[in-house]
Amino acid sequence: MVKVLPSLLSVDFLNLKEELDQLEKANVDGLHFDVMDGQFVPNISIGIPLLDAVKSYSNLPIDVHLMIEQPEKYIKLFAEHGADMISVHVEATPHIHSAIEEIKQLNKKAGVVINPGTPVETILPVLSNVDYVLVMTVNPGFGGQSFIEQCINKIEQLNQLKHENNLTFDIEVDGGINDQTSKVCIEQGATMLVTGSYFFKQDNYAQVTETLKG
Ligand code: DX5
Ligand code: ZN
Repeated sequence: MVKVLPSLLSVDFLNLKEELDQLEKANVDGLHFDVMDGQFVPNISIGIPLLDAVKSYSNLPIDVHLMIEQPEKYIKLFAEHGADMISVHVEATPHIHSAIEEIKQLNKKAGVVINPGTPVETILPVLSNVDYVLVMTVNPGFGGQSFIEQCINKIEQLNQLKHENNLTFDIEVDGGINDQTSKVCIEQGATMLVTGSYFFKQDNYAQVTETLKG
């Protein structure tokens, strides 16, 4: 079964409690939490204070996507503040293996992320260590961008590697996911969908969640 994780970057922050209620009722599988540092990506977003607020109110699992330089410096902090899943970009650290191991030692699900310009080969050495691989389908930094078609091949490639090697990692996609692009991704083997601007434009979160799951 495919999982749907709305990205809080596009939530109505002024209505956060009500939005979180709606999300829980809509049967989403978790909340995607985009952390940007203005260095690794050209934007600054949300961090620990908002994570604390969300965590104090909602029971949904939190998927923290670290778009920051030197992610290893902050893994423990996000884990201590209630992240259930943490993903780090392979482009952001020369120590991807130890970053992943640290996340797992903290008893959190560990993910590795690749940008649109990064080939799957870069993460071959850690595929057996991760709980999920996040394939970026836009260049990270902003919500509301268009899905980059060339990334579809990488989903297929990862799915093949997964089955050939009896691995169990989830394949998550993030960026420009809507009712059309989600279908293509699922067909190629995606098991987790992050969706921001498309999702939060809808009136009925339960309905869109069901539609996206296909
Ligand atoms: C982009 C973020 C995404 C973003 C997705 O840098 O990682 O999670 O919020 O937003 P949409 O679905 O609007 O592309
Ligand atoms: Zn993200």
